[in-house]
Amino acid sequence: MNKLDVMNNSFNIKPFAPNLGAIITNVDLSNDLNDAELKDIRDAFHKFQVLFFQNQSEISPENHIKLGRYFGDLHIHPAAPKMKNYPQIFEINTDKNSKIANGAEDFHSDVSCDMEPPLGTMLQLHILPECGGDTMFANMYMAYEALSNPMQKFLSDLKAFHESEHFYRGRYKTESNDESKTEYPSAIHPVIRTHPETGKKAIFVNKFFTTRIVGLEPQESKFILDFLFSHIEKTEFQIRYRWNKNDMAFWDNRCTLHKAIWDYFPNKRKGRRVTIKGDKPF
Ligand code: SIN
Repeated sequence: MNKLDVMNNSFNIKPFAPNLGAIITNVDLSNDLNDAELKDIRDAFHKFQVLFFQNQSEISPENHIKLGRYFGDLHIHPAAPKMKNYPQIFEINTDKNSKIANGAEDFHSDVSCDMEPPLGTMLQLHILPECGGDTMFANMYMAYEALSNPMQKFLSDLKAFHESEHFYRGRYKTESNDESKTEYPSAIHPVIRTHPETGKKAIFVNKFFTTRIVGLEPQESKFILDFLFSHIEKTEFQIRYRWNKNDMAFWDNRCTLHKAIWDYFPNKRKGRRVTIKGDKPF
């Protein structure tokens, strides 16, 4: 089936763009989901890689956790402050006092430094700036497929370190968020991973966490990573999503990267995110 063909679903779905994403308009995520809806959402997630659920109301932390659990156990962020009583929830909250906006610096796959990095992330935004605060997503299947065969082959034998201390240490430090017990995960993952559900290959490196390629000389590793970091940011692989209040985005961290645009300072943007555990990349 052509990617742009509309699926035969229990809900309304339409592609967001030819390269990535779909919009779903008539599923109320604050209700329980039945088996048919869940199957259709999973199928759409594998096909479109990022789903945007529109026409939503604000989902309570309990329901957000329940929603995430339909797709797997929930991941707990190794470094970010936890929402009171809901350690599974990562609050996105940027305003005039913010020194950073989460996910704003570069394209990344969430917490790829974990041994078993998250499968997907569900983010709902409740407060938006009047304009700005879009999120960009990039299709890593397309990025892989755009490489020549010899390059695909060369990269397929490589593994890379994904580290976090350089990125997380000090990032979330506040008086109430003591970092002394934080453990900073690191892992080695294939540079090209195979998606466990679709069997498709995707580039799996990102500027936040991927620090070097195993077995290469430092200069060689830098050269290859610089090439990949610039390749994966080609506009052809990207979409840019403009949020409506209470939209829920559900992205696949195994085959997409994303970047939040922090162009709305000093205005406020606020929401909650849960992240679903994944498995070891292969
Ligand atoms: C993130 O990287 O999880 C944040 C995405 C966003 O705020 O749009």
